[in-house]
Amino acid sequence: MPLVSMRQLLDEAAKKGYGVGAFNVNNMEQIQSIMEAARETKSPVIVQASRGARAYSQDRFLYHLMLAAAELYPEIPMALHQDHGNSFETCKSAIETGFTSVMMDGSLMADGKTPSSFEYNVEVTRRVVELAHEKGVTVEGEIGVLGGIEDGHGAGVDALAHVTDPDQAVEFVERTGVDALAIAIGTSHGAYKFTKKPTGETLKMDTLIAIHKRLPHTHLVMHGSSSVPKDLQDIINQFGGKLKPTWGVPVEEIQLGIRNGVRKINVDTDNRLAITGAIRKVFAEKPEEFDPRSYMKPARDAMKKVVAQRMTEFGQAGHAGDYQAIPLAEMAKFYRESLVHA
Ligand code: G3H
Ligand code: 13P
Ligand code: ZN
Repeated sequence: MPLVSMRQLLDEAAKKGYGVGAFNVNNMEQIQSIMEAARETKSPVIVQASRGARAYSQDRFLYHLMLAAAELYPEIPMALHQDHGNSFETCKSAIETGFTSVMMDGSLMADGKTPSSFEYNVEVTRRVVELAHEKGVTVEGEIGVLGGIEDGHGAGVDALAHVTDPDQAVEFVERTGVDALAIAIGTSHGAYKFTKKPTGETLKMDTLIAIHKRLPHTHLVMHGSSSVPKDLQDIINQFGGKLKPTWGVPVEEIQLGIRNGVRKINVDTDNRLAITGAIRKVFAEKPEEFDPRSYMKPARDAMKKVVAQRMTEFGQAGHAGDYQAIPLAEMAKFYRESLVHA
């Protein structure tokens, strides 16, 4: 199957009430982990690359790895998504590369740190929607600001400092025409999200539900949604790592989100933890090894296991064969016609 638009994956997910994991990649092994997990669980997938990932792997390498994935796993519908595009230009270059979906994160200025104004966010996102929809490419916007900054995304503010305002969310969707909306409900990127299991005070699922009530037809996106499982933390620390005690987003909260309009769930950190734990284990137990395959294979298997588990928990498992790819040109026609009828 060719790469498909993320809009189609999310529309299909909405029809049947499940969520789709969006997993970050930087290299071949991570793509292979996701595709193997997708095949095993029969899941549609969103593969996403941050600006850092695009710079690390180079666009052409990344794109051709995705074409290889599409060729080798023809039964899996998959979208290639730009994660946290920081500007119109970043989204434009992703579209030119062949991404079938982009996130314009106008909640921050182009530096990826400074919270922006609502008007700036509307304007830059609207421009990206115009460009992307003309080519049938999906757009995710963000309203509200995630917490943290440890991985370079985020304002470095308290995760509750810019929780999404439901009224603004409605105005944002109306004025931009985004296909999917990322909201801020107290999560942050990276391993250190919560100091204890989150409660309704720290993880604002009530805000998410309020937004869904106001925007029942908008696909909601949860960022910073790694669960940071204790067993993955423990493996790292058992083999010489130094992670501090921490909590992520419990899977049951994500499942509550999925029952309330969440269709895309971003997961990177859990996979990073799985990979690092597996590599540390080989280094500690077999210090004589120096063939990279001796640790990359277990790392790939460990990530595959996490991804397959999330696919099952999010409900996308079993749905890969539900539909045929809609070509991007047809998606572009759909957007043109919806403009005429608006
Ligand atoms: O948005 C955050 C993702 O975990 C990607 O992180 O910018 O370090 O690749 P990155
Ligand atoms: P995590 O750091 O929780 O995996 O979040 C990833 C993310 O939101 C990527 O955009
Ligand atoms: Zn994110």
